[in-house]
Amino acid sequence: MEKPIKKKKNICCIGAGYVGGPTMTMIASKCSEIKITVVDINKKRIDSWNSIDLTKIPIYEPGLAEILSEVRNKNLFFSNDVKGAISKADIIFLSVNTPTKIKGIGKGKASNLNFLENSVREIAKYSKGHTIIVEKSTVPVKTAETIELLLNSSCLDNVDNTKKTYSVISNPEFLAEGTAIRDLENPDRVLIGGEDQNAVKEIKELYSSWVPSEKILTTNLWSSELSKLTANAFLAQRVSSINTISAICEKTGANIGEVSKAIGTDQRIGKKFLNAGPGFGGSCFKKDILSLVYLCSYYRLDEVAEYWENVIKINDWQQDRISRLIIGNLFGTIENKKIAILGFAFKADTNDTRESPAINISKNLLQEGANLSIYDPKVEEEKINFELNSCFDDFGNSKGKYNWKRFDSIEDTVSGADAIVLLTEWEEFKYLSWGNLLKLLRKPAWIFDTRNILDPNDFRSTGINLWINGRGENLN
Ligand code: NAD
Ligand code: UGA
Repeated sequence: MEKPIKKKKNICCIGAGYVGGPTMTMIASKCSEIKITVVDINKKRIDSWNSIDLTKIPIYEPGLAEILSEVRNKNLFFSNDVKGAISKADIIFLSVNTPTKIKGIGKGKASNLNFLENSVREIAKYSKGHTIIVEKSTVPVKTAETIELLLNSSCLDNVDNTKKTYSVISNPEFLAEGTAIRDLENPDRVLIGGEDQNAVKEIKELYSSWVPSEKILTTNLWSSELSKLTANAFLAQRVSSINTISAICEKTGANIGEVSKAIGTDQRIGKKFLNAGPGFGGSCFKKDILSLVYLCSYYRLDEVAEYWENVIKINDWQQDRISRLIIGNLFGTIENKKIAILGFAFKADTNDTRESPAINISKNLLQEGANLSIYDPKVEEEKINFELNSCFDDFGNSKGKYNWKRFDSIEDTVSGADAIVLLTEWEEFKYLSWGNLLKLLRKPAWIFDTRNILDPNDFRSTGINLWINGRGENLN
């Protein structure tokens, strides 16, 4: 008997960002029988994903370019043809941005689901037959209900009068930037939430190509949506917790590295995510906690809302504490002083600057009149410009251009500076030839290591003042 011909599956991913790009690259490389089209309304972004020169793809992520080069234009395509990709898709991943609302009800807390809603309306218009819709974006709990409602009511006036059906599944993404490829290749878990068990099975099969079945967890929709917000809230809470302890270390003579190690060896606490720093950054921790806070307030769980809001307050406090400490040590005035900023990305191994602690700390220093020289191996001037100059007052007026300059070499960045502020833990900062660099500073000079990556022994008897986050012992 002849085997039935199995139709080649078509996946469409809406949103070609930090999640859509790497996630679909990984699925394409593991499932060569599936055709994937990643679409975006941003033409420049799609052009960059299609760029022949792999150093020009829009995001820097170790290992991504290598895998991309193997699958791009074979079974992975990047396109602006949103309508075309939707109409051919059996499965559609929603990977659009879900930022915090900046106006209207819930301003400053609730998630702005406008981008998601627009994509869902496009799906209702152009999809054909039965389509599985996968929430990959991080969304407030109950968003799947809204998506279903939108789909089922909008598709009544669809353009081609065909019967359309949908299954909405939650499949949040847990990758971290900088380690996205490693996280996607070997995830701690894959979470799939949904009511339609056939759809859940299909998504499970997709991941089963490379993820062991015991790591694929299935839950109801709301548990899945809530787990994503909860995971980020717990991770951010650990960062805020260790940052409060770093301040106590500095007051008491304790050493945060030793404290982290001592508590992290307790298996119930675990050793990861215990590095004190300038506060957490990245596009998601703050936004997802705010979304959780909004959800709590909506359900009148005011104490719970306040509890989680404090995680963000501590984060802001840590950035202000560090800014004040820099200014204080430079005799309380930094007007026209050159301060070298090493690292602008929110963490190492990414070119992402969203919510980077470097933004607030730099702005605090610029507002005091400092002259900043900035170096980051992967962050381009355009992004720094966007973050530092898109600064408006309460009336929406631009505060004007601040005094900063990006340099391509560390020597030029630190030359003539009164202080170096190390803000991102790039590997290359751990192995700098300090002997030569220190000579370039104006004395008395300070080094502020917010990431605790420098070895105080490299600075002893150099006459340079050293502050390391959470190091209370005498370092000089
Ligand atoms: P991003 O801003 O980098 O990418 C989102 C993309 O969606 C943009 O390129 C935008 O142009 C596109 N888009 C918006 N509306 C569209 C529409 N109607 N049609 C087509 N394209 C549209 O965002 P991101 O960092 O990739 O995050 C996406 C989602 O994933 C967010 O909900 C985020 O919380 C979540 N998430 C992000 C990460 C991360 O590491 N960045 C990790 C896990 C989850
Ligand atoms: C985080 C989560 O780790 C991912 O699981 C999640 O998918 C993602 O958010 C998301 O939803 O966007 P990401 O923000 O990319 O990933 O990076 P993290 O490694 O979590 O770091 C976040 C921030 O915390 C960085 O600024 C980092 O420097 C800081 N951090 C992290 C510390 O200061 N100390 C630590 O010990 C760990």
